[in-house]
Amino acid sequence: MGAFPFTVAASDGRARTGVLSTPRGEIRTPAFMPVGTAGTVKALTVEQVAATGADIILGNTYHLMLRPTAERVRRMGGLHRFMRWEKPILTDSGGFQVMSLSKISKVTEEAVTFQSHLDGSRHVLSPERSMEIQADLLGSDIVMQLDELVALPADETRAADAMRRSARWGDRSKAAFGAREAQALFGIQQGGTWEHLRRESAERMIETGFDGYAIGGLAVGEGHEAMVEVLDFAPAMLPADRPRYLMGVGKPIDIVEAVYRGVDMFDCVLPTRSGRHGQAWTWDGPINLKNARFAEDDTPLDAASPVSASRDYSKAYLHHLVKANEILGQVLLSWHNLAFFQALMAEMRAAIAEGRMEAFRAGFASRQLRNAP
Ligand code: GUN
Repeated sequence: MGAFPFTVAASDGRARTGVLSTPRGEIRTPAFMPVGTAGTVKALTVEQVAATGADIILGNTYHLMLRPTAERVRRMGGLHRFMRWEKPILTDSGGFQVMSLSKISKVTEEAVTFQSHLDGSRHVLSPERSMEIQADLLGSDIVMQLDELVALPADETRAADAMRRSARWGDRSKAAFGAREAQALFGIQQGGTWEHLRRESAERMIETGFDGYAIGGLAVGEGHEAMVEVLDFAPAMLPADRPRYLMGVGKPIDIVEAVYRGVDMFDCVLPTRSGRHGQAWTWDGPINLKNARFAEDDTPLDAASPVSASRDYSKAYLHHLVKANEILGQVLLSWHNLAFFQALMAEMRAAIAEGRMEAFRAGFASRQLRNAP
């Protein structure tokens, strides 16, 4: 067996729609994975998350190894059982979170050493330890290789060094992961915004051989235009018969542009994080429920949504909850936003299947800009 079967059912230009089949269920692509960093998609029950149409969620090695520890999650039956989510889980490997969250970190060829953002305690994460945490202790379905990345703008030498180290860590990740029937390992492309570095990275990853291929090191400060430029060439460098995953992206408009260019999977904290801050994503762009113009608006966020947060509560009530800083406001807006992101993915799957992705993309972009900040 080995790699999960990935069937591309239809293509439209470079965009494709299909299904990634895992023992814990099918992932319809293009797919959006809600982020469940610390064993929870913040503010929501797993039943609420499932009701949005999510086929898979993401968990984080970095957070879970620090608290409650990966060993404790294992003793409690693994991450699926611990958090009561029985569908697939993809876990990130920790390198990115060490860079963005830990107090101090030091990277050597062997491993990354860092201090916890929680209590300053010292930890070591190597490719081998990341595989043990993700595959054996948490019991993740899709395991990410350990990688090293640099914040952009970075100079080319540093970007090249981090990309080559990521390639070596990809080899070590694969060796430590070994042969598994029911779990998959994805590699991560690095190389900043340089086309030749992205190509070298892709060639090294293909040589190593992964079950899926992620594009990393984007949405790290380069801006929308620069990111889209990289997406003009990066996805096509990765094997067409395996899923391509753009890590940490993004705004609905970024996701649409990436799907248009051949990306199949996404994750981002945006829907839940912005929901906790009073923001709702709609077909007409983002709106902030704090705004006084919603104080007596009796309409729902989306009358056609399958979830009650979007369909049954008025904007006036959501405005009140957000203004009064009520927990329910954060719950309902997180729930609505995840439902919106899932509806967006479903619309794109249908548009690709029906050969109208180009028109969908143009129509979506012009409507999103209506409420542009
Ligand atoms: N999340 C967002 N971007 C990245 C990346 O480049 N690498 C990893 N491991 N996680 C990410």
